[in-house]
Amino acid sequence: MIIAITALKGGVGKTTTAVHLAAYFQSLAPTLLIDSDKNRSALVWSKEDKLPFYVASQAGAPGLIKKFTHIIIDTPARPEPEELEDLAGGSDMLILPTTPNHLDLDTTVKAVELLRKLDANYKVLLTKVDSRTKNSRDAKSFLEEAKLPLFKTEIPLLVAFQRSPSRGVVVQDYPDRRAKIGWNRYKDVGKEISEIMA
Ligand SMILES: Nc1ncnc2c1ncn2[C@@H]1O[C@H](COP(=O)(O)OP(=O)(O)OP(=O)(O)O)[C@@H](O)[C@H]1O
Ligand SMILES: [Mg+2]
Repeated sequence: MIIAITALKGGVGKTTTAVHLAAYFQSLAPTLLIDSDKNRSALVWSKEDKLPFYVASQAGAPGLIKKFTHIIIDTPARPEPEELEDLAGGSDMLILPTTPNHLDLDTTVKAVELLRKLDANYKVLLTKVDSRTKNSRDAKSFLEEAKLPLFKTEIPLLVAFQRSPSRGVVVQDYPDRRAKIGWNRYKDVGKEISEIMA
């Protein structure tokens, strides 16, 4: 299965989502994370070899792909519409992370308008959800009103997500008592994907 993580906006949790979904799918079958962002964020994260799956650059990926059952693609911020089209055509599913922030939601609606025309298989994932505010409920109603397909699972805003890249580890390997909560949510997203694709 090929899953691309994309958004028209930067900083919405694409790389964090790509890394943790790769960890989930690796627990099921060999999984390759392709870092197609020229900032190489996922490659930098994997530099110390502490991630439980293999990460390749886009240039390094072609020879490797056939060895893996699942491919997760992390994409750059602000893709051109043509790039979105290529991604939609080349993957089984697109995941669009968005924070509950109004501008991010607005950009997500624009991305979906593009994808609808392409007949793509996509789903929106709410990320960086702060349980202390009611912005997630507002975001959910906004997305439901706009009739966007949304994962039931939301990703909470956790310090452990911010800090795990600097240690080169996935969140579940970061020493923080709330890290497990974050990992369980990504596992739940992984299970939702498996159900959709079954
Ligand atoms: N659930 C979360 N809780 C707290 N911080 C988070 C969460 N998800 C991501 N972050 C932090 O937010 C920032 C942006 O996340 P990330 O790099 O995953 O987004 P991105 O969409 O890949 O960004 P870019 O467009 O720059 O590639 C990072 O500092 C990351 O650690
Ligand atoms: Mg990124």
